[in-house]
Amino acid sequence: MTASACEYIPGLANVPAAQSSISYVDGKKGILEYRGFQIEDLAAKSTFLETTYLLIWGQLPSKQQLADFENEVRYHRRIKYRIRDMMKCFPETGHPMDALQTSAAALGLFYARRALNDPQYIREAVVRLIAKIPTMVAAFMQMRKGNDPIQPNDDLDYATNFLYMLTERIPEPLAARIFDVCLMLHAEHTINASTFSAMVTASTMTDPYAVIASAVGTLAGPLHGGANEEVIFMLQDIGSVENVRPYVENLIANKSKIMGFGHRVYKVKDPRATILQGLAERLFEQTGRDEYYDIAVELERVVEEKLGSKGIYANVDFYSGLVYRKLGIPTDLFTPIFAIARVAGWLAHWREQIGENRIFRPTQIYTGGHNHPYIPMRER
Ligand code: CMC
Repeated sequence: MTASACEYIPGLANVPAAQSSISYVDGKKGILEYRGFQIEDLAAKSTFLETTYLLIWGQLPSKQQLADFENEVRYHRRIKYRIRDMMKCFPETGHPMDALQTSAAALGLFYARRALNDPQYIREAVVRLIAKIPTMVAAFMQMRKGNDPIQPNDDLDYATNFLYMLTERIPEPLAARIFDVCLMLHAEHTINASTFSAMVTASTMTDPYAVIASAVGTLAGPLHGGANEEVIFMLQDIGSVENVRPYVENLIANKSKIMGFGHRVYKVKDPRATILQGLAERLFEQTGRDEYYDIAVELERVVEEKLGSKGIYANVDFYSGLVYRKLGIPTDLFTPIFAIARVAGWLAHWREQIGENRIFRPTQIYTGGHNHPYIPMRER
């Protein structure tokens, strides 16, 4: 089937580019569901690995299926020493998202077999990517400080192990649980920019490591995953609760974007921001409030007052940065952590795409000239 109308819609806003049963968003009511399960329910009752299973294979696992999946992921957490050696050559000043994109792509060199119609191949690729991406993020974090990477600890669950590899300390159970919920909240969100990128790459029937590497590159931008870092820089810039109102007024007067607010789909508060706000409150209650939190609360109040009527409210990135900062995570790791979580959604879309594939090949509206005479170099 071909599109009959040829209307150009910048950013493809509201243009359906796929049919999918993975997730559902109602931006007016503030609803997000993964495979028909409400995000609030999953955040309260599930875990990141169970949610990953649900997203990729379409149903909640049985006790045995979940145990098998968790064990496989645990077993595959280590990365090859040649990948570690390659990462040691990365400049320590490089952004961790660039390091992650390169290392994710490098997995394709080591697991070169491609058998996209073999369920066992798909399972192995899923397990490897879910297991190794956090290890690569933590390894780069250690290496840029001149340390050897901390090996995964087989006694620890997914979230606890990641925080352990970052800090060499086993986190408090509340911190690990909150981090695991953060991963669940970021795991999938319909056909956003990075997922679309993953789907376009997948539609060429290339390998899953290339799919994930292209999605990581797309997530890195400040209008997408990079916004959570920008939120912290903005809170730093604001400096105190009293400065919030003039800061916001100045940004609005200059038509600048306020980071962590607004969404292409949500015209009410992002349900993930509401859940994260609750988690942030719990975390700050246990570990002590700080000025960043107070500035954030005031900022949300003032932005809502000024821009709420335009449908601009806090999005997922507004509170996630605050939580990660409180967990002691460096700011430039916020987006790689988003990537760790979103690998689940990207892989679900990869599997869906290759299951019923047609290569993406949209059209364009040409705006250039025609039939220009070629001008010899000496006459230009
Ligand atoms: N601050 C101030 N004004 C805003 C904001 C904001 N954060 N977001 C949108 N607007 C205004 C915008 O200026 C425009 O106003 P007008 O109609 O008067 O020109 C109107 O709202 C529509 O904005 P848009 O940029 O056309 O909306 P979009 O759907 O293309 O963009 C967005 C969505 C998320 C890119 C945008 O809201 C934004 O840049 N937000 C800040 C960055 C951010 O927090 N990104 C994270 C998004 S959620 C997670 C993720 O995707 O990674």
